[in-house]
Amino acid sequence: MSIPTFDLVIRNALVATASDTFAADIGVNGGRIVQLGSSLANGKREIDALGRVVTPGGVDAHCHLDQPMQAPVRMADGFDSGTRSAACGGTTTVIPFAAQAKGQSLRAAVDDYHRRAEGRAHVDYAFHLIVSDPTPQVLREELPALIAEGYTSFKVYMTYDDLKLDDGQILDVLDVARQHGAMAMIHAENADCIEWLTKKLEAAGRTAPRFHAHSRPMLVEREATHRAIALAELVDVPILIVHVSGRDAVEQIRWARGQGLKVFAETCPQYLFLTAEDLGIDNSYAGARCVCSPPPRDKGNQEVIWNGLADGLFTLFSSDHAPFDYDAPEGKKPGGEEAPFSHIPNGIPGLETRMPLLYSKGVLAGRITLNRFVELTATNPAKAYGLHPRKGSIAVGGDADLVIWDERPVTIRNDRLHHDVDYTPYEGMQLQAWPAFTLARGEVVWDGQAFHPRPGRGQFLRCGEPTILPLPRKSSI
Ligand code: URP
Ligand code: ZN
Ligand code: ZN
Repeated sequence: MSIPTFDLVIRNALVATASDTFAADIGVNGGRIVQLGSSLANGKREIDALGRVVTPGGVDAHCHLDQPMQAPVRMADGFDSGTRSAACGGTTTVIPFAAQAKGQSLRAAVDDYHRRAEGRAHVDYAFHLIVSDPTPQVLREELPALIAEGYTSFKVYMTYDDLKLDDGQILDVLDVARQHGAMAMIHAENADCIEWLTKKLEAAGRTAPRFHAHSRPMLVEREATHRAIALAELVDVPILIVHVSGRDAVEQIRWARGQGLKVFAETCPQYLFLTAEDLGIDNSYAGARCVCSPPPRDKGNQEVIWNGLADGLFTLFSSDHAPFDYDAPEGKKPGGEEAPFSHIPNGIPGLETRMPLLYSKGVLAGRITLNRFVELTATNPAKAYGLHPRKGSIAVGGDADLVIWDERPVTIRNDRLHHDVDYTPYEGMQLQAWPAFTLARGEVVWDGQAFHPRPGRGQFLRCGEPTILPLPRKSSI
């Protein structure tokens, strides 16, 4: 027997990239793809993918792990359980947020977040920043320096008292993004409208979880999306509107694109598979599980989101994994038992289910092509945050981050997931596929049955400039 040429060969793969689908063997050495072709030489390890689609490992460019919260609230997933869960669902790169608290230096927030990640991650990770206190020091020194060091994206909030910026502050940070080539992500909901509606609802005793959706109707998102677009136009900088929930925001983004403005958009599984009814049709507290912002809308809006995924409106499909236990005072029941909706921590878990949901209900159901799936879940997020071509593709020289898909019926059950959250909003949902293998830099981290842990194997990635331009196709309306 000859000495193996490769560390690993994946044979007979049906390789899908954002642009092509082709049959090939994949040769891996030192964690990188070194050859694509037919009848490759031997590998030390071989995996036969006959009849199976192989896609790039997912890049989940919007997730929250071990993000400091106001006591008693605490995230249930840190870098260990969060990246474990990611790997078992086919995601091999995560980009959570180093969040600046008001009064804190941005540098201190980044240093703290590195300590939280160090030695714990099973897959590679980068950081976005959250800018909540854009002092002159942050704008002139910290942010430019951090961008140069590989933190090339940051999120700003138009809502949440502890995070929100006013329009002048947003203009200031957008100007830094323009000058230094960073990607600005915007959470677009009008804070004053939400506060006004919340006070009215609470005064009327309407405090059950379902009223969360009443306090954040679509116009609140529409107005803020339009304002964010106008602010970006004034500064002349591309922006990314994150977690777009439905028609009103989509129309604003389509309008902006029609004007030739560089406005990117992200959506998430909750806007395809949940509706406001999941927050409760009566006053039951169970709907707290699905409290997130913006809230899920209705079936008609789900169709709007599907159309935007199919026709190129959306650039990214992310989980917005925000892990809070349901049955815990540090989670969805803050302060003990049943809290008014305005006290329920926002967000739902979804790192592990993001890729299988879109593969099953998007690709296999004929709503989006396989290549578009790859673009949305891996290639575009890698490009948007300057990680491409190392991440997000299947190409010689790139990291061997790969998913081999098993097309078989699967029922989502929380006790089979690998996060540390005590529920999934998708409990009982029937899927038609799940990863048979996830490989992270050539190492099998998930084999369809078992997770192969190695905390610390995940490396910190410094991001480059976004390479997502030119803009995606213009929309059809
Ligand atoms: O409800 C949400 N989306 N929670 C996570 C934080 C955020 O705004 O993305
Ligand atoms: Zn947000
Ligand atoms: Zn988020």
